[in-house]
Amino acid sequence: MRHFTNVHDLGDLKTAVKEALEVKANRFAYKHLGQDKTLMMIFFNSSLRTRLSTQKAAMNLGMNVMVLDVNQGAWKLETERGVVMDGDKPEHLLEAIPVMGCYCDVIGVRSFARFESKTDDYEEKILNQFIQYSGRPVFSMEAATRHPLQSFADLITIEEHKKTERPKIVMTWAPHPKALPQAVPNSFAEWINQTGYEFVITHPEGYELASQFVGNAHVEYDQRKALEGADFVYAKNWAAYADPNYGKVINTDRSWTVDSKKMALTNNAFFMHCLPVRRNMIVTDDVIESPQSLVIPEAANREISAQVVLKRILESL
Ligand code: CP
Repeated sequence: MRHFTNVHDLGDLKTAVKEALEVKANRFAYKHLGQDKTLMMIFFNSSLRTRLSTQKAAMNLGMNVMVLDVNQGAWKLETERGVVMDGDKPEHLLEAIPVMGCYCDVIGVRSFARFESKTDDYEEKILNQFIQYSGRPVFSMEAATRHPLQSFADLITIEEHKKTERPKIVMTWAPHPKALPQAVPNSFAEWINQTGYEFVITHPEGYELASQFVGNAHVEYDQRKALEGADFVYAKNWAAYADPNYGKVINTDRSWTVDSKKMALTNNAFFMHCLPVRRNMIVTDDVIESPQSLVIPEAANREISAQVVLKRILESL
């Protein structure tokens, strides 16, 4: 595997999950792969889990790791061609990317949707420039439209906890005070659609996701109805996708918060969220602290998803 930006780059998911569980059982078995290899992690946006879990995964594989926070200590980067650079950005991304590629063997990039242009966001302009100009294998550490390392970790967690062959998985929108990208829900939908599991997406009207991500999922606007019989409840906020409200908060209805009454409608479902989560907006304290909450196992599996991806990239060098 050269680049990793979406579910299709990983190939067969059953094989990938099997490999993940093998790596999890013996995470230092491939330390030789990363010897004298350097990972550069580039963050255009903040992170706790992705930063730490990916660095840990790289160390498990024997890699050296460099981290660049573009907005802290680096030159401010211009990203548009044709701009007269007489403002506060002294360096262009089109020079910075190949320069960064000179210093490493593999590049991870985090670059969220900016909500300035739906076209730019959904064309993954920043991530694709790294793929085009760095000369290195590139993997997404959450881009404008997808968060594949998170979705892979979520799938590993579901496989570890499912009690039936074909569980019912419900992804529910929940309220949040600020506009959040669609990357996590898009990506989760893209991955779960590949499994063939029963998959329901529930959200208020106006929060429809792009059709290529919804795929064959059933969209149910009645959250209570959607949750009936669920085996897994995946909560997430996202901003509106549909025009003219792209990137906007159009609803903060707290009746969509996941609480114990909603969870009582389910088949004793596990609760999932990628974190960070705003308690008592997205989910109540009692639900996230309950024995059915998988938020910490999901975060722990971020190390494993990153390690499988890095392992496969290193094997292809
Ligand atoms: N879930 C996740 O990607 O967390 P961070 O934003 O902290 O990396």
